[in-house]
Amino acid sequence: MKKTHAFAGLVLSTTLLGAGLTNTFAADESLRSLADKNGIYIGAILNSQWFNGGLPGNYEQIHKKQFNIVVAENEMKFDATEPQEGRFNYNNGDKMVKYAQQNGMRVRGHALAWHSQVPGWVNNYKNDKQKLLKVLKNHIQNVVGHWKGKVAEWDVVNEAISNNEPQWRTGSVWYQGIGPEFIDSAFVWTHAVDPDAELCYNDYNLEQGVNPKAKAGFLLEQVKRWVANGIPIHCVGSQTHVEDTTTDKHFIGSPDSLRSLAKELAKLNVKLKITELDIGFKSGINVSKSDLERQGQTFRQYLDIILEEPNADTYLIWGVSDKWSWLGGLNRQKGLIYDDNLKPKPAFDSILVRLQTYEPPKDSVKADSTAKDSTVKDSTAKDSTAKDSTALDPGQSIKQFVSPSSLSMHIAGRTLFVTGLASKRAKVDIFDTQGRPIFSASTHNGTVDLHNIAEGIYVVRVRSGSSNLIQRVTIK
Ligand code: G3I
Repeated sequence: MKKTHAFAGLVLSTTLLGAGLTNTFAADESLRSLADKNGIYIGAILNSQWFNGGLPGNYEQIHKKQFNIVVAENEMKFDATEPQEGRFNYNNGDKMVKYAQQNGMRVRGHALAWHSQVPGWVNNYKNDKQKLLKVLKNHIQNVVGHWKGKVAEWDVVNEAISNNEPQWRTGSVWYQGIGPEFIDSAFVWTHAVDPDAELCYNDYNLEQGVNPKAKAGFLLEQVKRWVANGIPIHCVGSQTHVEDTTTDKHFIGSPDSLRSLAKELAKLNVKLKITELDIGFKSGINVSKSDLERQGQTFRQYLDIILEEPNADTYLIWGVSDKWSWLGGLNRQKGLIYDDNLKPKPAFDSILVRLQTYEPPKDSVKADSTAKDSTVKDSTAKDSTAKDSTALDPGQSIKQFVSPSSLSMHIAGRTLFVTGLASKRAKVDIFDTQGRPIFSASTHNGTVDLHNIAEGIYVVRVRSGSSNLIQRVTIK
């Protein structure tokens, strides 16, 4: 495994990607396949219910088809892995690691030193600094040692900064018993056990600006100090649990603010990862179709950071379906990209379309997230010989499509023709290149009238039975 934090020095396949992007999308295109092409990780937690076999089969089917990185919702936390002093339980974590290996996914470890989900026995030592140091060190050595080489990145320290003012979280057992140096020590111990693992500081409310009065501003000063002191920190995880802008009256976070943190971290050779994304609405309110479309745009804006900033490589969502989401406890709802019935929401479409249409600047250098992890195959290579996609053929409305299924489409004049339909009707959705839905219709006799659509470049998706054909088109 390569050292994962040396993003600035890696010569990557982005130039290949630039040449390799193509308008010919396979019919089984997924978030995952598109993320692989763009050299980023896209993922979702495995919910706690999955570990007990409590989820329907299509949950796992969706998870492994759509995502190339995975993290456990609760199963690698302190109380799960060392419920009793010195007695470690790796069963659930092992189950996830096996699943990831079988499906070629990267594994994130969450979390080593956190004030929450600490078993009661740890608190018995809250006044004994030397003992607490031993407890934390022993925990890290055992847990990180157990999954050495299998967990590619760790949240070494989680949520150590106060939520209300820029200072350390003083109520944490680790802070109270040891002092802020528990953080430095945790990074050093983790690195000593697994020098190849990527080590992150992870926290929420980091999308609220980098000024010294904001959490991210305080964190930035600490990261500068850690880097200057040689503390092995390679990444900052932004949890990014945010609320829809129209209902959060105190909303002061934004994708732009998070982007500014990414840019500051780049100067320190530290990555930014989005590790726990959800964009919820207040509980109890009616959520309309246009609300869900706006939510999709916010998902897309956060994705843009990961696609566009060279030191950002991971886009992880804290759940799959709204049905199994922790958000109710925060008085929020519907914050994920699949609905209660595991049907993709507009946010899914926004992400999918953005991954399809994103074209990296020709000279950009992006950390090669696929190459640095031996468990994830480098699917970028297959695109290296593809034609440059940036130029749409002026003579054709639609580029030639090569599909493993029989579904195909073409435009003649202002009519879309769909052939190879599994059933009489197909659903046609048209998006702009930002992933905003602008038109939906069903085919009639295999056609759809496009007269009401303005000239421009769009992405058309045709769904028929289980086939799903997606293609960029020019409508003239
Ligand atoms: O393990 C017990 C189980 O024995 C008991 O039967 C059951 C009864 O409710 O509770 C179980 O514990 C629950 C645990 O999840 C495992 O399911 C806790 O009550 C519940 O509070 C806990 O919630 C988790 C929460 O972290 C705790 O802080 C959520 O599932 C999990 O999504 C959430 O994840 C955190 C990240 O780790 C850090 N960032 C914020 C994020 C959301 O809060």
